[in-house]
Amino acid sequence: MGKNKLLKLVENHGSPLFIVDHKIVRENYRRFNKALPRVQAYYAVKANSDPAIIKTLFDEGSSFDVASYNEFIQVYNLINKWREKKKEFFIWDKIIFSNTIKDRDTLKKINKYKPLVTYDNIEEVKKIKDYCSKAGLVLRLKVPDIGSQIEMASKFGAEPSDASMLIKKAFDLGMKVEGLSFHVGSQCTNFENYVTALGIASGILNEARSNGYDLNIIDIGGGFPALYDSNVPRFEKLARVLNQEFDRLFPDDVEIIAEPGRFIVATSAILISEIIGKGKRDGKIFYHINDGVYHTFSGVVFDHWIPKFHTFKSGKKEICAVVGQTCDSFDKISLAENLPANLQIGDYFYTENIGAYSIASSTRFNGFDGAKILHINK
Ligand SMILES: Cc1ncc(COP(=O)(O)O)c(C=O)c1O
Repeated sequence: MGKNKLLKLVENHGSPLFIVDHKIVRENYRRFNKALPRVQAYYAVKANSDPAIIKTLFDEGSSFDVASYNEFIQVYNLINKWREKKKEFFIWDKIIFSNTIKDRDTLKKINKYKPLVTYDNIEEVKKIKDYCSKAGLVLRLKVPDIGSQIEMASKFGAEPSDASMLIKKAFDLGMKVEGLSFHVGSQCTNFENYVTALGIASGILNEARSNGYDLNIIDIGGGFPALYDSNVPRFEKLARVLNQEFDRLFPDDVEIIAEPGRFIVATSAILISEIIGKGKRDGKIFYHINDGVYHTFSGVVFDHWIPKFHTFKSGKKEICAVVGQTCDSFDKISLAENLPANLQIGDYFYTENIGAYSIASSTRFNGFDGAKILHINK
């Protein structure tokens, strides 16, 4: 979007302004689908749970990956509202509950929906049996996440050497394991992680089948890299590798699903923030803006994300700090941005590619509301 259009929008709607371009959401979803024809995408709602985004993706044919009861029921109710009149849907086709650890109350509440849920340890499978016995199970495996922006393997996934035991244990308890899942870490640019993970999953699937357990879902998780800059390898290159591995490793009766989050929404949003204060501290200019790490820039903390600040005005540049609006000294977005030194209170910054893990993890710390959300091209 051009700078003039951005300026018009912020002048009309105020700041901070989080602009979601649904044309880009649709393009990203279609790109994912086209490059991976064998895969059904379950959009990871945690990346950005705005109902308008869920609607756009629902209309495109997406399914959804949820992490909590609130996400589950939000998506479930929305699907019921939007689905063609009286047309029932099979819940596994539309929703996977992919948080491997669920509290007992959540399990009790979702039992009646007969959900598809993941697990990665014995305690969890016993808990699911006790509180959500109508669920279908997917065993999440620990796989390499080397070089990914956000690592997953230290917190989630069963050791592959325990997989056979965990599958047998579930069947012995009277539950049914439907498939296997993994996550190679978010913003994964090391495609070898996927190749290794698929190899591990195929070995376990074949062994389970030869033991008489009819597993037929492979869930390849998220991790698909968003094009934050030109150094990020192209998604289509990854898709070529994945398609080859699917054909080599999995017969046609294996259903392959994925849980893309960042790839679908990261590039779809721009934030416009406003300078509300300007100070000089130890010789460095500090631009204080009306957003921060407790709000739309939460990805700086939780997502290891490094935002870039663009300006509408030019001027001689120097190294400046950009800090948030709260009273907390932790609320520093960047201490070294090469920015025009002549910006004034009331001038704006804009930050691209801020659609994922931003408003989703924003708080109301210090009583600030957070950015206004504007949807365009819906
Ligand atoms: C279980 C699970 N699936 C999918 C995702 C989405 O990952 P990404 O945004 O890297 O596509 C996450 C992210 O944390 C996750 O934990």
